[in-house]
Order: sequence, then structure tokens, then C-alpha cells
Amino acid sequence: MANFRLGFIGAGFIAKFQAKAVAQIRGVDLAGVYALKGAEELAAVANATGIGPCKVYGSVDEICRNVDAVAVFAPNMARVQLMTEIAAAVKAGAGLKGIICEKPLGRTVAEANQIVEIAKSAGIPTAYFENQVHMKGIRAQMEQLKQVQAQMGPLALARSAEEHSGPHEPWFWDPTRQGGGVLSDMGCHSIAVGWYVLNPTGKPVDFLEPVSVSAVTSLLKWGVPKYRDELMKRMGVDYSKTPAEDFATGIVTFKNPETGQLVQAQFTNSWMYDKQGLRLMMDGLGPGYAFELNSLKSPLEIFIGDQAAEAAADSELALEKSTASRGLLAVETNEADLYGYVDEIQDAVKCFSEGKDGFLNFEYGAKITLLCQAAYMAAEKGKTIDLTDPAVQEELKTYTSLIAQGRGGEILF
Ligand SMILES: NC(=O)c1ccc[n+]([C@@H]2O[C@H](COP(=O)([O-])OP(=O)(O)OC[C@H]3O[C@@H](n4cnc5c(N)ncnc54)[C@H](O)[C@@H]3O)[C@@H](O)[C@H]2O)c1
Repeated sequence: MANFRLGFIGAGFIAKFQAKAVAQIRGVDLAGVYALKGAEELAAVANATGIGPCKVYGSVDEICRNVDAVAVFAPNMARVQLMTEIAAAVKAGAGLKGIICEKPLGRTVAEANQIVEIAKSAGIPTAYFENQVHMKGIRAQMEQLKQVQAQMGPLALARSAEEHSGPHEPWFWDPTRQGGGVLSDMGCHSIAVGWYVLNPTGKPVDFLEPVSVSAVTSLLKWGVPKYRDELMKRMGVDYSKTPAEDFATGIVTFKNPETGQLVQAQFTNSWMYDKQGLRLMMDGLGPGYAFELNSLKSPLEIFIGDQAAEAAADSELALEKSTASRGLLAVETNEADLYGYVDEIQDAVKCFSEGKDGFLNFEYGAKITLLCQAAYMAAEKGKTIDLTDPAVQEELKTYTSLIAQGRGGEILF
């Protein structure tokens, strides 16, 4: 059987990471790239590493006509436009078997719903990429604890955190383009994985019903004049005028529709984690049992003293968003696999080949956007948001957070 041909729209940070994941999967080629910048470079890497043959295409329409599925790996503010162009290509005859979209599905509930509708109009399967739900560590704890859970009852509390020292491109820092700050960028991961692990074994991903959200958003590091100036110099964003939150935490409460039991997922996200590099932390507490995962705990440690520091010119060789190139470094040897990228691509390709949605589809992505936006609303209003209230549901449909409007100064200072 011919290899499945994936096309990437976008050739930046996540596209390069996902190319490393493709290299670990049998039967899948990175067959095409379309991007405003970086497409030639990524295609050259694909061809040199044997995951091609990979061609650079000059438009969305062209790439859609030459691959089996496209993955939208472009920035958040380009989503609606790109999805519209993909749907138009399909309607004009492009034979796509599926569309993949990175997190967050939308910057607002309205945008996420619009993307769901555009994909529906194209009539092809979708996969929302939330890698943490696919992490082997997350899946392994579920498998290990299946019997225990059946005897003792499901998890009652999940805590999830994703933190690093701040994003790599200016658009992430600009709340009016990205859709917010760290809550929009990484809160979606932590909320999704918290919900996922709390679901009793064997139940669908949206089995537990979200009933309420409380949250806090703050600007703890990048609003301090010294670091604000550094950000202005490095990224060209002015946090004295249009700040975004660099710390967010909150709690989503869920109800088990069969038993009525309430369980909670706490999320914590920051762009001010100046330890070794990206850290994912998840834990879950059930009656008489628990799990804990920390992505910085690697079996491999490297020490580079001051004298030898020049030898480690590229600190990101060790770890995503690495902050140091000397001292005791945590090294992850296969981050594409550790973070779930390999498994999410494998799942999408398998499902699309069978004519169905990925494990997580766009409708699920829209539910995560809703929880994220409800968290912004909770932080803004300083109160718990009741998701079962029809008036709140209505308000969320057209809600854009103050931070995303560029009015973060009204609540962050
Ligand atoms: N799952 C994860 O852990 C994870 C990590 C990083 C980024 N992401 C998501 O992936 C997406 C891309 O992020 P990134 O870090 O790769 O960004 P990036 O800025 O590093 O790269 C973006 C790429 O998209 C291209 N691009 C921009 N606008 C375009 C347009 N209109 N048409 C075609 N190409 C366009 C750029 O030229 C570039 O090649 C974002 O939505 C982000 O939230 C997810």
C-alpha cells in the first residue's frame, strides 16, 4: 500500500517538531509544505532525512490537491482564513481524507465554532491536535490503574501544569493576535489533559460534564519594568500598553452524569518558569491510588561546567525551551514521542484512512476553547462561572476576553 501523504501548512516550530514525529511512524510521508516562511528549509530536511519525497507548494489549494491530509500548523490568527481556503479546495475537488488543526482550535468560542462549521461544510474527517492526551505516560497510567479504578472508583482530583520561560515568536506574546496569554496558549493543554484523565476508564473523552470554572490570570514577571523592556527589545511587544497574563491557574469542576459525583481538574500555566526548560506535570488522586508524571525527570542528566560551557552552543538540543547550556541539564532524548506528537499523528492517519475523525475531533477542540474562555471570564469577573446557566452559555458564544481585546491593563495591573 502507498504511504499516507501528509501536508503541513506552516513550517515553524511545531511543524519541525511534528516532522520528527513523522520520522518515527511507518507508512507516512511528509509529502508537502506550504508556508509563508520556512517551507523550503523544512522540505529540504524532510528529503534529507528520508521522510519525503516532500515538495513545496505555493498555495493552500495546490497542497490540498497533492496530499491525503493537511495539518494546520500556522499561527492562531491565520486559522479561519486557512480553514476557509482548505474547505474551498475540497469543494473544488481536492481529495483530502482529513484535516488536522493544532491547538487552540479558536481564539474565542465564536471562532472555534466557526472552524467546526467550515470543516463540516467540507464534509471530511477532522483531528484536533492536543498532544498531551496522547502522551504514552498518560495512557500507561490509565492502563496500569484500570483494575484499581474499577474496584476503588475513579480519580477525584487531577492537577496539570505546562510551564516554560516564554514563547519563541512575537505573535504568541501579542494577546490581540494570539487570543490571550499563557492561558490561551497552554491552558488549553492542561484543561484537556485534566478532563481526559478524570474520565472513568473506557468512557468517551467528553463523558464528564463541565459544570463550573474558576480562575486567576496574572502578570507576575513580564510586567516588571526591567523584563517588560527586555520583552519589548526581544519581541517588539509593549506590555505597558497591551499586556497578557504570564501566569494562570484555576479549577474546572465536572459532574459524572451517571453517579452525580463531582470531580475537579486544577490547571497551572506560566511563561515564567526559569528552570531547565519546558516542564509538563500531571498528577491524579483517586481513593487509595495516585499517579504522577514530570517530563523533566529524565534518566539522562548531563553536567557542563563553566569551562566547558562553550561546547554546548545550542541549549535546545537538550530540551524544548531550554534556559541553560551549563550546569546540570535535564536531557530528553525523544521529545516528539514523550509529548505525544508521534501518537497523535499515528492516530489521525489511522482514523483518516478508515474514513473517520481522529480520537479528538474539532467538536472536542471547540469544547476545550469554551473551557479556556470560561476561565478568562471567571478571572475577569472574579467569580466562579456556572457553565450550566443558559445565560452564561449565551454570553460565552460572543465573548472576547479583555486581554485578547488588548485591554489587559484593566485587569492585570
Ligand atoms: N502542541 C504544542 O505543543 C504546540 C507547540 C507549539 C505551537 N503549537 C501551535 O502550533 C501553531 C503554530 O505555532 P508555531 O510555534 O509553529 O509558530 P511559528 O511562528 O514558529 O511558525 C508558524 C509558521 O506558519 C507560517 N504561517 C504564518 N501565517 C501563515 C499563513 N497565513 N499561511 C501559511 N503559513 C503561515 C509561518 O511562515 C511559519 O512557517 C500555533 O497554533 C500554536 O498554538 C502547538
